[in-house]
Amino acid sequence: MEIIIQPDSRHASAVAAKIVANLVREKPHAVLGFATGQTPLEMYRVLVEMHHKEGLDFSQNTAFNLDEYVGLPPGHPGSYHSYMREHLFRHINIPASRVNIPDGRAADIPACCLDYEERIHTAGGIDIQILGIGTDGHLGFNEPTSSLASRTRIKTLTAGTRRDNAALFGGEDNVPHHVITMGLGTIMDCRVCLLLAFGKKKAQAVAAAVEGPLTAMIPASVLQMHPRAIFVLDEDAASHLTRADYYKWVYENKPDWQKY
Ligand code: PGA
Repeated sequence: MEIIIQPDSRHASAVAAKIVANLVREKPHAVLGFATGQTPLEMYRVLVEMHHKEGLDFSQNTAFNLDEYVGLPPGHPGSYHSYMREHLFRHINIPASRVNIPDGRAADIPACCLDYEERIHTAGGIDIQILGIGTDGHLGFNEPTSSLASRTRIKTLTAGTRRDNAALFGGEDNVPHHVITMGLGTIMDCRVCLLLAFGKKKAQAVAAAVEGPLTAMIPASVLQMHPRAIFVLDEDAASHLTRADYYKWVYENKPDWQKY
């Protein structure tokens, strides 16, 4: 695991955006895995800025999103279709035909999940997957006790996750109970996993995922088994890590060829 600790979320988002942009420049056909939530918003803002000011070109990329609520029409303000359109896709030149987000309104959910896995496979696999982490350690919407080998499927949200995501639904009671999410096995197949976490409320989950035991009770701990997992944190999210000084030294003393 590579742990990058930055003074604040703005600096951390800039580092994360650079990692994504470097890949897009080096591999124009890269398959990009996107996440939603509060955390990646600033990184998306920087990517949009790079598109406008530096000509960062997404025209040949393919996108896959981690998850979507079951039952929401794509136009619902709480849907991740809306989120992605609003915060990224309508501002960059990625073709709509190569944007993939699970269909929360599918009549046959198992078939829709299988089809999503097949589409990822046909696209050649995901080159980089952006990730957040839940306060309970969830990854995507893989809540605690999710199988570490799981694939895209329906999951039931915990009360805590529904509370955390209530803002766009006008109250917790309106947050759907069910979601479609890439599984932990699906995420583990991505070539690079880039996890962002900011703020004190994520500190415990981050420490458990990075320095705690590998356990389905902290789904993000599965990344300990990933060959290329990068955590980009602000000081607050890193505040429970016991080896923070070591991670900082490593990052500040990378050989030139390893720098972003
Ligand atoms: P957040 O969500 O970015 O809104 O904190 C992260 C997550 O639940 O994975």
